[in-house]
Amino acid sequence: MSDSVSSLNDPSASGKPSATREQWSSRLVFVLAATGSAVGLGNIWKFPYITGEFGGGAFVLIYLMCIASIGIPIMMAEIMLGRRGRHDPVTTMKKLAKESGHSRSWGLLGWMGVIAGFLILSYYSVIASWAMAYVPRMAAGTFSGLDAQAVNSVFSSLVSSPESLIAWHTLFLFMTMSVVARGVRSGLEKAVTYLMPLLFVLLVVLIFYAMGTGHFWQGLSYLFNPDFSKISTEGILSAMGHAFFTLSLGMGAIMVYGSYLPDHTSIAKASISVALMDTLVALLAGMIIFPIVFANSLEPGAGPGLIFKTLPLAFGHMNYGTFFGTLFFVLLVFAAWTSSISLIEPAITWSMKTFQISRIRAAVTSGILVWFMGLFTVFSFNLASEFTISSAISTKYGEFVILKDATAFDFLDYLTSNIMLPLGGLMIAIYAGWLMNKMYSRDELNINRFWYFIWSVLVRYVAPVMVIIVFFNAMGVVAFVRSIMGV
Ligand code: TRP
Repeated sequence: MSDSVSSLNDPSASGKPSATREQWSSRLVFVLAATGSAVGLGNIWKFPYITGEFGGGAFVLIYLMCIASIGIPIMMAEIMLGRRGRHDPVTTMKKLAKESGHSRSWGLLGWMGVIAGFLILSYYSVIASWAMAYVPRMAAGTFSGLDAQAVNSVFSSLVSSPESLIAWHTLFLFMTMSVVARGVRSGLEKAVTYLMPLLFVLLVVLIFYAMGTGHFWQGLSYLFNPDFSKISTEGILSAMGHAFFTLSLGMGAIMVYGSYLPDHTSIAKASISVALMDTLVALLAGMIIFPIVFANSLEPGAGPGLIFKTLPLAFGHMNYGTFFGTLFFVLLVFAAWTSSISLIEPAITWSMKTFQISRIRAAVTSGILVWFMGLFTVFSFNLASEFTISSAISTKYGEFVILKDATAFDFLDYLTSNIMLPLGGLMIAIYAGWLMNKMYSRDELNINRFWYFIWSVLVRYVAPVMVIIVFFNAMGVVAFVRSIMGV
């Protein structure tokens, strides 16, 4: 399979589509690569912890609705724009805008994506480094027989040491950048082809463990029984933001992957497969973690450390736990690896073209920049953990809290997932739904009239309207306007 996929170099500077630019060999390879991008820390680390923070079922339901009504149609739109443009996101957007007589400032969309990918990778790498740091601990049997409190203190001592976090962060970025520097080739595809299914099998093994905790139903009901009194406007915004995050949407990553997709493969089928697999992994992770949380009287809203405080408990008490635990964290690192590559790929293709530099130079330079940026997140958990910001708008309807005691990590996460990705997604939907010539979109999507109609409605009305409402509501804009107008 290795030779079948583009090295993700960009030989098509001439602007001629498919003829010169290398491509994925089949839809399957594309689906694997896109799934590798989508399935990552977002599913296994982030989904459970934000579900816990926002109270469970209602959050999950809104998240699932967002995947179906916003995520899938926008994913189709993003892949479509990528395939039509066949360039880095900035050039693609400029080129498409020119093609249909719109302003070149659509290139800004690509720009925002390049920056968002950068910022996300800076903290993503630090979280991946927690997972890496757990590998030797697991292998050494550190967690065998430990109780919740002892597991907790292993986690706290890890994150309170900036030196070791920096060491692992450096290693993870080095791994990411060395793949990126060579172009996303064979090694990575093999990783996705074999390791992702293995990760899946391991999750199924863990589900059996969760069933044996005696709290499986309590976990399921926490996840699937919505209690709408628990959801806040911020929870709704986060559910939507997470739908973008988990599917890798809104910043050009999938657009770049789409730019290597052969002309006649079905975008709709590919998008649906990716979204289904991604959602399945997230739900499995939730079904594993919450029973363990309840069985050990832990706090579902424990925050970013949640999986690092719960899963080792399970591994520490199950047969062959040392083996399964080590394997699990190794696979989690691989899942994070395949995702992080797609986070930086837009920046790489863009800087190669703009500065006329080699792929290797682009990778080294961006690696160094991301490394420095990552220090903010590293210090958020130790030296600078007290350094927080809060922001709120008070109206006569009460106080609208936007950020509360946010560390640099919280701020970066909020800015990217809850603001930049939905905004990018909104622009993609507007471009694909309203501005792009219908002839082109019909031609690219190549689905029957009925499904084209459904897609159009979702991408023209449902997705943009939902993004705008959720967005303005959470920003306190709605409350602010109402208070000015006195209604
Ligand atoms: N989707 C990945 C995850 O769930 C993270 C990711 C990779 C991402 N590429 C992205 C998020 C692009 C937003 C945009 O872990």
